[in-house]
Amino acid sequence: MAIDIFWRIPTHGEPSSLRNKLQHRGDWSQQQGDHVVHRGLVAGGGDDGFNSLDYIAEVARAAEISGFHGGLIPSFPMTDEPWAISSFLARETKTFRFMIAFQPGFLNPVVAARMTASLQRATGGRALYNVITGGGGPAQLWWGDVAPHDDRYARTTEFLDVLRGLWKGGSFSHHGKFYHIEDGGLPEALLGQEFPEIYFSGSSDAALASASKHAEYYLSWLEPFDQLRDKFNRVKERTDALGRKIKCAVRVDIIARATEEEAWREVRRGFESLDSEAIARYKAFVGMSGDSVGANRQRSATPKEFKSYEEFITHRNIWSGFSLLRGGQTQGIVGSYEQVAERLDDLVQLGADAFILASTPHLEEAYRVGEEVLPLVRGHDERVIELRAAG
Ligand SMILES: Cc1cc2nc3c(=O)[nH]c(=O)nc-3n(C[C@H](O)[C@H](O)[C@H](O)COP(=O)(O)O)c2cc1C
Repeated sequence: MAIDIFWRIPTHGEPSSLRNKLQHRGDWSQQQGDHVVHRGLVAGGGDDGFNSLDYIAEVARAAEISGFHGGLIPSFPMTDEPWAISSFLARETKTFRFMIAFQPGFLNPVVAARMTASLQRATGGRALYNVITGGGGPAQLWWGDVAPHDDRYARTTEFLDVLRGLWKGGSFSHHGKFYHIEDGGLPEALLGQEFPEIYFSGSSDAALASASKHAEYYLSWLEPFDQLRDKFNRVKERTDALGRKIKCAVRVDIIARATEEEAWREVRRGFESLDSEAIARYKAFVGMSGDSVGANRQRSATPKEFKSYEEFITHRNIWSGFSLLRGGQTQGIVGSYEQVAERLDDLVQLGADAFILASTPHLEEAYRVGEEVLPLVRGHDERVIELRAAG
């Protein structure tokens, strides 16, 4: 079975290692008076003209030539804007696919259909979606969205109904709870493009209902394996009941090294470099309020008080302390190249059909993971392996 493997594009800047606190790759830390780029330190911290777009273009190209299908372009208050970044990356890469994360509620579906169709036409169909619906709490208010949890999913479902309707061509009208369209439709020149594959994330019942109607892939963060298997089975059952098929995908951070000791040493060094600010940020994250079922499941699987990095080891090669080192979600895979590939294969066994991997710094790690881990993942797409052998 072919497993599609994506990389993550760090559109929020990143440090040069998990030990380093400055998000200085791609000049995101200019406000700290510390313009350092990965090519080296410009004397006096001056500007060398190498900016955040240059950096993420390098990451995308590194992932492309290392055998990844494409990259997830995340959408959080601290990231660049994924639609804009996709158009830019389209010109910087040849086959790389852009998984655009967006919350449907914040876009008019007609505008989204036109933007997507234009991108598909311009890139030969390289766009796909990570449909997100929002985690509630202060983050949702940051976007100006006050809709309650299940209403947000109802809006997402209706948005995707409209998008699919518009995509078919002809005159399209829709009178729903959130959208009213009279004789709408895409311009003639944009018709007939491939509809973007939908990776759908969210762990609540409302999310599973919406995913089963519209998604090609149900996407989850890494969770304890039994829990993940249950969730995948639930979404598959719901989708079967609608007479459709759905695949599953896991978004997971990894630390892969030649030996397991080296991989854990990387974790330990990151852990030992934590300062009080990073620990306070982590505690704020685990204590955060929001209505995201998925985020709450992540938070419940990690200690609130701790003395050593080992307290975060939940399973062979699984470490639940990633949010300490780089913010974001908690669980990831740590081990030798072979072990990381084995854990990915375990996930394939329990129902994963695709992965979005990430590791810091994304540039060098794209080469490392592409070279050392992807070829060991059984079922990794033969097309890619053939391409690499030929090239
Ligand atoms: C793999 C994955 C990636 C996500 N990426 C984003 C993102 O880029 N931006 C965002 O605001 N939410 C993101 N989310 C949040 C979810 O899409 C969803 O809005 C949230 O989990 C709340 O839904 P729930 O209550 O159904 O879990 C992501 C979730 C997952 C599982």
